[in-house]
Amino acid sequence: MRFAHLASVAVVAVFVIGDVCAQAPVAVFSPPQESSIPTGTKGVAIQAGRKILTETQTSLPKNVGNGLSCGNCHLSAGTVANASPWVGIWGVFPEYRSRSGKIISLQERVNDCFERSMNGQALPYNSTEMNNILAYMQWLSTGVPTGLSVKGRGFRPVDQDLKPDPGRGKLVYEAKCAACHGADGLGMKNPDGSYALPPLWGKDSFNDGAGMARTYTAAAFVKHSMPLGQGGTLTDQEAVDVSEFFTHQPRPVYPYKAKDWPKGDQPEDARI
Ligand code: HEC
Ligand code: HEC
Repeated sequence: MRFAHLASVAVVAVFVIGDVCAQAPVAVFSPPQESSIPTGTKGVAIQAGRKILTETQTSLPKNVGNGLSCGNCHLSAGTVANASPWVGIWGVFPEYRSRSGKIISLQERVNDCFERSMNGQALPYNSTEMNNILAYMQWLSTGVPTGLSVKGRGFRPVDQDLKPDPGRGKLVYEAKCAACHGADGLGMKNPDGSYALPPLWGKDSFNDGAGMARTYTAAAFVKHSMPLGQGGTLTDQEAVDVSEFFTHQPRPVYPYKAKDWPKGDQPEDARI
């Protein structure tokens, strides 16, 4: 196993994390077996972290301002390649992020998604909940050498030269997305009020400062992972068109967007 990881280090892959389209040496993508979760207090923390990440709204109602769970975008509790997995994430932070204009910790990155993707409030860095989340991400990263990204980190980029057409995107939405996410984009609820199918816009969706609110970031996710179970069936152009359409529907506003990309290197699809 150890040799397999070492052997993979020479591989170079292209992946996109938000605004960064990186070329870097990568490690193999190999999430640990569930049975390797230890017993005792560490195992309890790992399990609790996974529960928060997959049932976020009900676990932390004070920190979540919409109807989403982290796992709605980081598919299968962050274990799916090219759906922004958390496998290997433990060893790559602290990391420079151009949106922040500085090196940030894994806790800060987690809180970025709380404040934007979840339209909510940051978790205290020393809280039990934050430590449980980190325990889960650390366990998921078992065997990945420190400092290396896994193959399949982030999303697989789509062609950024394609020009988005929201009119065509609306047609793609109606044909390929509305059956699950609703003709009104508001998702579909269970009888208990939780979401069976998550919303793509409206008050319970991510805010306009989220990575998913950016056309090409959303397109990279959608192209590979949507329609759910039929990832890869849209063309890049269809993914760009439908993403331009749904990301620009009404959604919560992130009030601090003006502070993003403090070095002035914001990408073209940044929401400002
Ligand atoms: C609406 C979709 C969405 C939801 C919900 C979401 N995220 Fe994210 N997350 C993203 C996107 C998109 C990125 C990467 C792109 C970017 O940041 O621009 C990302 C990146 C991350 C990263 C960094 C990954 C890397 O490879 O650098 C972490 C860690 C993370 N999210 C944690 C969380 C946690 C924890 C939650 C729940 C509190 C959460 N996310 C909820 C969309 C989401
Ligand atoms: C078969 C049902 C289905 C179809 C069709 C479908 N989705 Fe999804 N989508 C889901 C489910 C379920 C999730 C949440 C996945 C999870 O939690 O594991 C999701 C998650 C998402 C998310 C991230 C979470 C959020 O609510 O923001 C986006 C964005 C998204 N879908 C976009 C699309 C687009 C665009 C299309 C059409 C091209 C589409 N989906 C078609 C079922 C579907």
